[in-house]
Amino acid sequence: MTDLQRDMNRTHHCCQLRAIDIGTQVTLMGWVQHRRDHGGVIFIDLRDREGITQVVFNPEHSKPTHEKAQEIRSEYVIAVSGTVIARPEDMVNSRMDTGAIEVMVSDLCIFSKAKTPVFQIEDRVEASESVRLQYRYLDLRRPQLKNNILARHTATMAIRNYLNDLGFIDIETPFLTKSTPEGARDYLVPSRVNPGEFYALPQSPQLFKQLLMISGFDKYYQIVKCFRDEDLRADRQPEFTQIDMEMSFINEDHIMSVAEGMVAKVFKAVLDVDLDLPFARITYDEAMDRFGLDKPDLRFGMELCEVSDLVKDTGFKVFADVVKNGGMVKAVNAKGCADFSRKQIDELTDFAAIYKAKGLAWIKIKEDASWQSPIAKFFTDPEQDALRQRLDMEPGDIIFFVADQVKITNEALGQLRNELARRQNLIDENIYAFTWVTRFPMMEYDETEKRYQALHHPFTAPCEEDLDKLTTDPLAVKSRAYDLVLNGIEIGGGSIRIHSSELQEKILNCLGIDKKEANEKFGFLLNALESGAPPHGGLAFGLDRLMMLLCKEDSIRNVIAFPKTQKATCLLTEAPSVPSHAQLQELSIRVVKTQE
Ligand code: AMO
Ligand code: AMP
Repeated sequence: MTDLQRDMNRTHHCCQLRAIDIGTQVTLMGWVQHRRDHGGVIFIDLRDREGITQVVFNPEHSKPTHEKAQEIRSEYVIAVSGTVIARPEDMVNSRMDTGAIEVMVSDLCIFSKAKTPVFQIEDRVEASESVRLQYRYLDLRRPQLKNNILARHTATMAIRNYLNDLGFIDIETPFLTKSTPEGARDYLVPSRVNPGEFYALPQSPQLFKQLLMISGFDKYYQIVKCFRDEDLRADRQPEFTQIDMEMSFINEDHIMSVAEGMVAKVFKAVLDVDLDLPFARITYDEAMDRFGLDKPDLRFGMELCEVSDLVKDTGFKVFADVVKNGGMVKAVNAKGCADFSRKQIDELTDFAAIYKAKGLAWIKIKEDASWQSPIAKFFTDPEQDALRQRLDMEPGDIIFFVADQVKITNEALGQLRNELARRQNLIDENIYAFTWVTRFPMMEYDETEKRYQALHHPFTAPCEEDLDKLTTDPLAVKSRAYDLVLNGIEIGGGSIRIHSSELQEKILNCLGIDKKEANEKFGFLLNALESGAPPHGGLAFGLDRLMMLLCKEDSIRNVIAFPKTQKATCLLTEAPSVPSHAQLQELSIRVVKTQE
């Protein structure tokens, strides 16, 4: 270390100096954003986490320092000492926090040189996402990503303070553990000392937080990594972060109000936005009926409308047969979109097909109120009248229909509704439309596995009034689960739990998990439930999704410092990778390549 390096102590950060500091001796340290040589005088924009300050090297002020400054290139890391001076009046930059001043440098220390960066360290960057992920440390220097990460810190601090003030205790739970059933595949970790045995990384701390309630901790929270091996999308990562919480001696209303208060604190801290509390609530059944999805986007209308009763005897066989076979026909009126071209309709049909819709029937209402449609000819006059009324058809509208099993009709048309709103710019990006979705069904029937599956997880309490239907009509049993939805994205979910071991066994039984399997999988929880369990419940937020919405990003990768690709790889470290033969041997593992 040179003497200069040792003697220089940073006095300010790069977004700190103002006109009031003129005349002060300062030392700044950071990265070179730009270097401009203006006829002998060199200007450098010096950047650190906080911002940018312009520093000046003038040969008339210090010749050796100016000479040394000629070596400097973008992204070099330097320290400068000098005097704060006023910028000449015509050089004042009112858009910069430090735009009134600059630093006239007397001493310069170059800490490290930098290769020319593979992309410019600026917000509008041309590089592909894979290059940015490979050089993530450079990408994180860009203001957009840096600000997202700083906002995430602001959010987690607000959360910790809020929950601490309410008496929540932050308790860590293990990562090397046993499978937790949240519906995804587990990531397994081999145990060297127990050959042939594996830990599972937690899909959530669900079982541990319930045990902590049984231990008497009353209120628990953790900002914690969860691991799920599932098909990845823009809002899904294989490892993601939950704000996980659990409380004892409470009901749904308590938990929802604690959660609402927390979200409000986060919005205030990060965006300085005051949210209206309490949030709206809608039952699962109503959400499915009106929006087709259990995560409705409430920023626009265009609600779905069931027409099964009107078309059950129609001449259009597709519709009539679907209704006869217990399916459902629903429609959505895209107001004023009758000018959609053939190509646009084909694109929307392909879009609906992603969600398994077998077709997308449509009716355009022309200016003279007559219909243009491939299926109009099948409807009698009274059928046409009934549809016209139910769907509020007006000249200029186009109606889309999906006919299929209830689940497919809802999902395909619900997603189509969102897609139409995106295409037609119906969404006001400045609205935060929160809603709780409540009273989910307890279970659904899994056609491939031919058994019932818990919709939330098997520890969710059923609604008391439905208990007698558990054996007679399991699909009609509602649960005490709730999700929080923001702008059509599920940002959190939870439930009141079962705190009686008898009821827990009964539910596991309904789910086709017999006593032996239950004991193998979560015998410890069943035992604990027999040792004095308080009524309890909680929820978990997806922190990444919440941050994605707060930062107005369309992928959670942009709010995670070191995210994975859609294929669950890390382009920076090149994980996953092939372990050495010795490592595998130590773990008693032989890798057998399976045929695709
Ligand atoms: P759930 O499975 O609904 O509930 O998860 C809670 C929230 O976590 C977020 N989330 C994800 N975010 C990014 N990538 C993923 N792969 C991913 N999966 C889920 C979602 C979701 O709302 N133990 C229960 C909670 C409880 O009952 O208390 C649980 O994990 O925003
Ligand atoms: P077809 O009789 O197959 O030529 O279909 C006539 C119209 O009905 C086309 O616009 C199809 O996209 C549409 N269609 C076909 N099957 C369905 C379905 N299950 N739900 C909605 N529309 C459908």
